[in-house]
Amino acid sequence: MRPRTIAEPYRIKMVEPMPVTTRPQREAAIREAGWNTFLLPSDAVGIDLLTDSGTSAMSDRQWSAMMLGDEAYAGSRSFANLERAIREIYGFEHVVPTHQGRAAEHLTSQIRIKPGQYVPMNMYFTTTRAHAERAGGIFYDCIVDEAHDSHSEFPWKGNIDIQKLQKLVDAHGAESIAYLSLAPCVNMAGGQPFSMANIKAVAAWAKGYNLPIIFDATRAVENAYFIQSREEGYASRSVASILKEMMGYGEGCTVSSKKDNLVNIGGFMATNNPDFARKTKELLVVFEGMPTYGGLAGRDLEAMAVGVREMVEDAYIASRIRQVAYLGQQLADAGVPTVKPFGGHAIFLDARAFLSHLPQDQFPAQSLAAALYVDSGVRAMERGIVSAGRDPKTHDHCRPKLELVRLTIPRRVYTNLHMDVVAESCIALFEQREKIQGLKMVYEPESLRFFQARFEPLVAAGVGA
Ligand code: F0G
Repeated sequence: MRPRTIAEPYRIKMVEPMPVTTRPQREAAIREAGWNTFLLPSDAVGIDLLTDSGTSAMSDRQWSAMMLGDEAYAGSRSFANLERAIREIYGFEHVVPTHQGRAAEHLTSQIRIKPGQYVPMNMYFTTTRAHAERAGGIFYDCIVDEAHDSHSEFPWKGNIDIQKLQKLVDAHGAESIAYLSLAPCVNMAGGQPFSMANIKAVAAWAKGYNLPIIFDATRAVENAYFIQSREEGYASRSVASILKEMMGYGEGCTVSSKKDNLVNIGGFMATNNPDFARKTKELLVVFEGMPTYGGLAGRDLEAMAVGVREMVEDAYIASRIRQVAYLGQQLADAGVPTVKPFGGHAIFLDARAFLSHLPQDQFPAQSLAAALYVDSGVRAMERGIVSAGRDPKTHDHCRPKLELVRLTIPRRVYTNLHMDVVAESCIALFEQREKIQGLKMVYEPESLRFFQARFEPLVAAGVGA
């Protein structure tokens, strides 16, 4: 029997007109933006796949909950609603709201890292690593080798390599480690999940050394979906129950609510460790605000409380991940090199393979993202040498194996026809890839340089195909 189409489990109730631009307008805009898609004004962008962060469409229930926001400075009822939702869905007792994910990372890093301590992560995320390093921590990559190989189709590229952790303990002792900072659906690896078997084994190993796991649970629901669809024994389990089991291996988590949680702003730290919660709240009042709002409005807390419940609805999360795969499959069918398996929140173009004529120091992923914008007005993001920044000791570029362009799919925002437009543009560029030129960096900010760095084409003709 022919497989049946499964439609999105929602209807569109409100629309937002999308800018339509001409190629000359886009050529002028990318020049103005220093060939950095982060610096484009959104009015010049059509399909915006820069990020899935804060770009979700909220539901009618979230919008109506916002009207009930309790804006009290202290003791807000909206916080109590959020706290109840997070306790139920994530299973952590203490909940500390923050204005977004990196604020939770900042507080956690300041409290839990002593200068000189290692912070093992399964690959890294830019802000998580930056906060760990600002607190004096030393980043240590403990992800499996497959994650660094864009050709590997290993289904669990987010897995943690326990031997790498053991090596660190053998060399420096367990006291040299602040905590294990582990992320489900590893963003920089291409949105790749870890398996429950892996996290269970890591937790058992960590217990032996009394090392806590603090998840960066920003995309934990997407990881839970992959466990449901790929891992033996989980097919009949709900995504909600898988998420809770996963979180059970951690002492706590930091979350950017702008992803899984289906809101435009927000974040939190949650934990079962009362001492950690107390210290976080003490710092919170210095940096974010009272523990019952943490830099957010009461209405934001209400929207989060509803989003946290909607994100684990099985039909929703399945449709979200299927849309990402729908885009990926079209690219794969046309031979466009992408990271495989397809990730949870994005399709990652392998810019190293796509633009094999450009050395990494000519920023192939940055060039490809600029060329894609000029071709079709689709905005993507560099995730390669620019994002990796410089080595804090040698000050040379970090040269990651993965040199990627991220096509990040916002939640509940675009239709599959939008995905078709994106695929056609990538395929057209691939067919004329040798015309895409490299870039040189002409302005480089000191930290998180990818946000604001400016570039110029090495060849005056520009980067567009
Ligand atoms: N952790 C992960 C895995 C993230 O992807 C992000 C943000 C954060 C933490 C920080 O959260 O933005 O709320 O402060 N990622 C965005 C992205 C920026 O586009 O991937 P935030």
